[in-house]
Amino acid sequence: MGALPQLHGWAPPSLRLRSPRCPSRCLLGEAKRTTYVSPWRSPSGRSRCSPRFAVTKAASAEVEGLKKGIAELYDESSGLWEDIWGDHMHHGFYDTGTAASIEDHRAAQIRMIDEALRFAGVSDAPSKKPKRVVDVGCGIGGSSRYLAKKYGAQCQGITLSPVQAQRAQALSVAEGLADRVSFQVADALNQPFPDGQFDLVWSMESGEHMPDKEKFLSELARVAAPGATIIIVTWCHRDLLPSETLLPDERNLLKKICDAYYLPSWCSAADYVKIAQSLSLEDIKTADWSSNVAPFWPAVIRSAFTWQGFTSLLRSGWKTIKGALVMPLMIEGYKKNLIKFAIITCRKPA
Ligand SMILES: C[S@@+](CC[C@H](N)C(=O)[O-])C[C@H]1O[C@@H](n2cnc3c(N)ncnc32)[C@H](O)[C@@H]1O
Repeated sequence: MGALPQLHGWAPPSLRLRSPRCPSRCLLGEAKRTTYVSPWRSPSGRSRCSPRFAVTKAASAEVEGLKKGIAELYDESSGLWEDIWGDHMHHGFYDTGTAASIEDHRAAQIRMIDEALRFAGVSDAPSKKPKRVVDVGCGIGGSSRYLAKKYGAQCQGITLSPVQAQRAQALSVAEGLADRVSFQVADALNQPFPDGQFDLVWSMESGEHMPDKEKFLSELARVAAPGATIIIVTWCHRDLLPSETLLPDERNLLKKICDAYYLPSWCSAADYVKIAQSLSLEDIKTADWSSNVAPFWPAVIRSAFTWQGFTSLLRSGWKTIKGALVMPLMIEGYKKNLIKFAIITCRKPA
């Protein structure tokens, strides 16, 4: 991982420190190290391209390519997902060892939200419940609407996908929530919100898409109000010993998943914890919910191979088909204890 990013507004004292290096070091790991380099000027006054500057340009081109891929993937696939699964684009939470029908899976997706809130200790009490929520990587707004209804909160969602933002807004209008929830296309790593806005900062299965986990967490912390709760539910790789790196087979498996789902480097839950510590966040907690999500991918695969699933898949486009083809690799990754479904929660100091 590179140097910690510059923050505007709230900046914890430890920001000047370097954070722990992400041991997986995939895709953007090396290039990202030179995120800011002053352009070097030749005596003639013409800009020369130093190697470091070239790396920086390559890295930012790579990030832009990644963002474009993510936007196109969700533009293309969100309609199909909604037809079959409804408005939540995340794993379900199951009691370990249960089998479930498609209706149960939808209930399990809601359970995932409630379990995350419970784990983070978010209060239902009228004086303590969240009033302003940001949904970072909001999909078509399933979490935003759920949280707005549950807490009577104002909720703002951001996504890279224009199709998702539009659909999220339309669904919210149809549910009579237009005055409480809103959506826009924006980057989680450069959020369009002032500092200290939200008392609940919510990221459900978007962290795995973020090419700079430090910047991601620091943006979540920046927009959080003092005392706010931050909840990240995300895909991680297994925790590593200090001297350990992922094995070549493990890297290969993750690379295939990265290619299909437009994911950059993975990190472990322990890496997230270290970053949260370096940002002076408090009450940092994490849990491995991999066994609680085990029934999910088999169910997604079954739903893709129904007649409705299959024909919609063919109509959706190549990115969606590519995503469907690597679904079994997610199951393999969980079985090999390589992929971990993690929750990380913390609080911004009051
Ligand atoms: C798997 S979907 C999860 C959607 C939603 N959280 C849910 O649970 O239904 C991942 C979401 O992350 C969003 N995303 C990925 N990278 C992002 C970024 N840099 N900025 C904003 N949103 C991003 C995608 O656009 C997509 O909406």
